[in-house]
Amino acid sequence: MSRYAAVTGWGHYSPSRVLTNHDLEQMVETSDEWIRARTGIAERRLATEGETTTSMAVVAAQRALERARMDAIDLDLVICASTTPDYLLPAASCIVQERLGAGNAGAFDLNTACTGFLYALVTASQFIRAGTYDRVLVVAAETLSRFTNWKDRNTCVLFGDGAGAVVLEATDRDCGLLSAVLGSQGDVGHLLAIEAGGSANPTSEETLSNGHHYITMRGNEVFRFAVRSMEHAASEALAKAGLTSHDIRMVIPHQANIRIIRATQEALGLPPEKVFINVDRYGNTSAASVPIALSECLSSEAIRPGDNLLFVAFGGGLTWASAVLRWADVDAIIGQREEGPYAI
Ligand code: UT7
Repeated sequence: MSRYAAVTGWGHYSPSRVLTNHDLEQMVETSDEWIRARTGIAERRLATEGETTTSMAVVAAQRALERARMDAIDLDLVICASTTPDYLLPAASCIVQERLGAGNAGAFDLNTACTGFLYALVTASQFIRAGTYDRVLVVAAETLSRFTNWKDRNTCVLFGDGAGAVVLEATDRDCGLLSAVLGSQGDVGHLLAIEAGGSANPTSEETLSNGHHYITMRGNEVFRFAVRSMEHAASEALAKAGLTSHDIRMVIPHQANIRIIRATQEALGLPPEKVFINVDRYGNTSAASVPIALSECLSSEAIRPGDNLLFVAFGGGLTWASAVLRWADVDAIIGQREEGPYAI
C-alpha cells in the first residue's frame, strides 16, 4: 500500500503588538509611502516583552494539533525551522516538544532562514513516506525583532515576528507533496547575514559595539536573487510534478516583498487572485511567513481535497525552495484515524 504525508492540521500565531510604517517614520529616516511602494508592507507584528520564538511556536503548534484533533503525545517528531531560536543550545524544537507535552517525539531544528518551513515540510514528508514515522509536527517561528538594528532603515522596515505550524500524518489516500525543489548558493551567503555570535565570530565587546549581532543585508542584490530564484524554483517544481501553473489552485509564496511576489506571479502567467498575500500586514517573518500565509489562506479560501498548492520561497544562505502539495481530504483522514488503530 502506498504511503502519503497529508497535512491534517495547521495554525499560526501573530503577536498583538503592531508597528506601523508611521511608527517607523518616528524611528528612522523613512516614509510610509517609500515602504509601501518598495515593499508592499503597511505594518508588522512584533513580539511583546516575554514572548519568544518558542512561546509563539507553541501556540501555533497547539492550534495545528487542535485542528488535526491530535494529542501532542501522539507525535513522533517535532521539527522547528528558525533563524532566531531562543538559544544556541538547547534547540528550539526541544523546548517546543517539552512545552507541548510531546513526550514520545524526537526533536530537531533546521535553519535555512526564510525557506526553513519548506525545507522542514519536505523533510517531514520524507520521514512519513519512508515509513519511519507516522505523525510529524513542523513549526516555523521567528523573533527577528530581537536581531534587527532599529537604526538601520535598510532592514528595520522589512521584518516582523510570528509563528506557523502544520501537522503531517501518514495516509493511504493519494495526496501530499507531488514535487520539491531545494537549492542553495552559499557563495553569496554574505548578502544576508548575522555576522557575530557564532563560533567564527563569538560575541565580544567589539562585535557588540560594531552591531555585528544584528541582521545585515545588501537588499538590492538579494532582491535580484529573489526574483530569479523564485521564478526558477516555482517553474521547476511545477515541471517535476508534471503540472502547469493552470493546475494550481493557489500559490503561497514567501512574503518578503510584494514586487518579488508579483514578478513571480507574472512569470508563472497567473492572475493576481491566485497568489496569497499578507505581506502588507505582517512584513517578512522569515521561516514563519509561508505557514502563516498557508494558515490564513485556508481560513479565507475554499481549498478542497485534490486542489494543488504551490509553495515558493527564497532566503538567507542564500537558499530557495519550492513544492507542489496536493491538498488532502483532511476530515476523512482524521475520521479514519479516530475510527480505529492505525493500519498503514
Ligand atoms: O527574506 C529575505 C530577506 N530579504 C529581502 O526580502 C530583501 C529583498 N530586497 C528588497 O526587498 C529590496 O531590495 C528593498 C526593499 C530592501 C530595497 O528596495 P530597492 O528597490 O532594492 O531599493 P535600493 O536598495 O536600491 O535603495 C533605493 C534607495 C537608496 O537610496 P539612494 O542610494 O538611491 O539614494 C536607499 O538608501 O532607497 C533608500 N532606502 C530607503 N529610503 C527610505 C533604503 N531603505 C530605505 C527606507 N526608507 N527604509
